[in-house]
Amino acid sequence: MNLKQMAGEWAADFVQNGMVVGLGSGSTAYYAVVRIGKLFREGALRDIVGIPTSISTEKLARELGIPLATLQEHPQIHLTIDGADEVDPQRNLIKGGGGALLREKIVARASRREIIVVDHSKLVPRLGHHFLLPVEVIPFGWNICARELEKLGCRSKLRKAQDGPYITDERNYILDCTIPPEAELAWLEKEINNIPGVVENGLFLNRADLVIVGSPQGVRLIGAT
Ligand code: A5P
Repeated sequence: MNLKQMAGEWAADFVQNGMVVGLGSGSTAYYAVVRIGKLFREGALRDIVGIPTSISTEKLARELGIPLATLQEHPQIHLTIDGADEVDPQRNLIKGGGGALLREKIVARASRREIIVVDHSKLVPRLGHHFLLPVEVIPFGWNICARELEKLGCRSKLRKAQDGPYITDERNYILDCTIPPEAELAWLEKEINNIPGVVENGLFLNRADLVIVGSPQGVRLIGAT
């Protein structure tokens, strides 16, 4: 079995009858959503409702027959299962490699419990080890955001798609930036979000209650089960 599948499917077993479930985005959360859909269709899971974190996850969940709702209908989420691009030893995360960080962060904030699913390659000694930090900015004046990020020590580049800038689900751009090695992460998260035009950044600090890691040795759990 591939390691992302191992982690994603393991996480799905934390979903219980009657739960409002945040459905994460990316290639690891995909396996959790597929398994939740299977359990629901087989009747092993009843009365669940999903809140998707991206348009692509919404589409997948609909295809699988998972009942969906909005945050207005269910402002309290019992459990969210989502992926991450990097996880540090304190379970802090970089997210947004797939571009869904804004909805993911809102859903994480609305969730009582956040379970993160990764393969072992995502575990790093410090965030920014090998992944850039995604920062979602509005298109107007994105270059000024890049300049302000530079003042914080974050060198950035505009994320590109085939035919121009990458566009998020909320119609914004993404600047992928370096994390200065000496930066205090909580300070950096706030300072980045204080830049006019920045909508959100991909630092998820103290958000993950449990990290489920797929590794060649099997599943490893980090945090509260
Ligand atoms: C989506 O924007 C991201 O936050 C994903 O959760 C993250 O990129 C992990 O994706 P993979 O599981 O595909 O590596």
